[in-house]
Amino acid sequence: MTANKQPEVNIGLVGHVDHGKTTLVQALSGQWTDQHSEEMKRGISIRLGYADATFRHCPDMDEPERYTVEEECPDGTESEVLRTVSFVDAPGHETLMATMLSGASIMDGAVLVISASEPVPQAQTEEHLMALDIIGIENIVVAQNKIDLVDRDTAEENYAQIQEFVEGTVAEGAPIVPISAQQGVNMDLLIQAIEEEIPTPERDPDAGAEMLVARSFDINRPGTTWENLSGGVLGGSLTRGKLEVDDDIELRPGREVEEGGQTEWQSVETTVRSLQAGGEGVDEVTPGGLLGVGTGLDPAITKGDALAGQVAGPPGTLPPVHEQFTMDVELLDRIVGEDGEDEVDEISTGEPLMLTVGTATTVGSVTSARSGECEVALKRPVCAEPGVKIAINRRVGARWRLIGYGTLMG
Ligand code: GTP
Repeated sequence: MTANKQPEVNIGLVGHVDHGKTTLVQALSGQWTDQHSEEMKRGISIRLGYADATFRHCPDMDEPERYTVEEECPDGTESEVLRTVSFVDAPGHETLMATMLSGASIMDGAVLVISASEPVPQAQTEEHLMALDIIGIENIVVAQNKIDLVDRDTAEENYAQIQEFVEGTVAEGAPIVPISAQQGVNMDLLIQAIEEEIPTPERDPDAGAEMLVARSFDINRPGTTWENLSGGVLGGSLTRGKLEVDDDIELRPGREVEEGGQTEWQSVETTVRSLQAGGEGVDEVTPGGLLGVGTGLDPAITKGDALAGQVAGPPGTLPPVHEQFTMDVELLDRIVGEDGEDEVDEISTGEPLMLTVGTATTVGSVTSARSGECEVALKRPVCAEPGVKIAINRRVGARWRLIGYGTLMG
């Protein structure tokens, strides 16, 4: 059996609730899913589902039949490994849009899953595609799922609706692959499309490490005595560089500490004690896939996602921390995912906005709004480089809606 490799690319699964994202991940990830430590798997799946899949091919067969996730080819020979990918399964429910947006910051490409049995677009089909556009994810494959539920005419009509819907968006020209995730129909075609459309990004092997932290945990069982206590665990993805066991790392913005009646944010330094990637303990990790980083931190600091949204890397190398910032604002023409064609009003001074910056989600209050630009004071600071894209959400009725994007000004 070929050894499991560390995944080299993160592929988002996005789309409307119940259109079949999780079923598709299961169909493609086969036997690899259950190799993750239970803690990591359980932790990540609560918010962002996560599974690795190894794509393979049978060189003696024609396209698309040669693409598979099986180790054995139909003629009994062993298939060859193409690459291991990591699926980041975004929740489709409208209330989980913040999770989807922060998940998008660690995606290198995405599969947009659209059900053939419903009119196109459904609300989060549109909202998720818009989010990909805003965050700059351009390598997209559309999976037209559940074709087993509809007759040929309906499937063709739905296909035409999808084509029309993606026109003028970042997914224009993306392959649309009819599949049934549940019945395993056309998985070979889908793997081929992913192989062709979502390449592994080129990485600079000499770049300093930067990890976006998406989750953080205390993995100790209640009642563990202090001698047996494991340090806090970070879950997330490396955007560049590599991390090794025993490396020193800094986390920014860090923690809020009180000194002399004043509170301020101080970065936290610690050491990498263990690394987990591709379902096993490793000495070194590179970008691609979700990682578990065991640290020397007091688990009380990492408990319950307390460090989600932070950035980790070698001390002194991380981007600046902002408690307020100015951003260039580009508003959408209308609020997507609504039945009506509600226009987006200008941002006004004093209004609260929910902002996603990397994996961080924070509420900001607008201290000054001018046309095309606004200044916000953040409830929780963020660590980010100027030029980074910020997803802007406004409270509309009972929930936050995506209304546009900002670019962090230096
Ligand atoms: P959220 O994560 O909640 O957004 O949903 P999801 O998009 O991950 O959908 P999920 O995979 O949970 O599938 C929803 C339902 O559709 C389940 O009952 C699946 O069994 C069913 N389903 C998924 N794919 C197919 C398919 O290809 N054909 C049929 N008939 N049913 C499918």
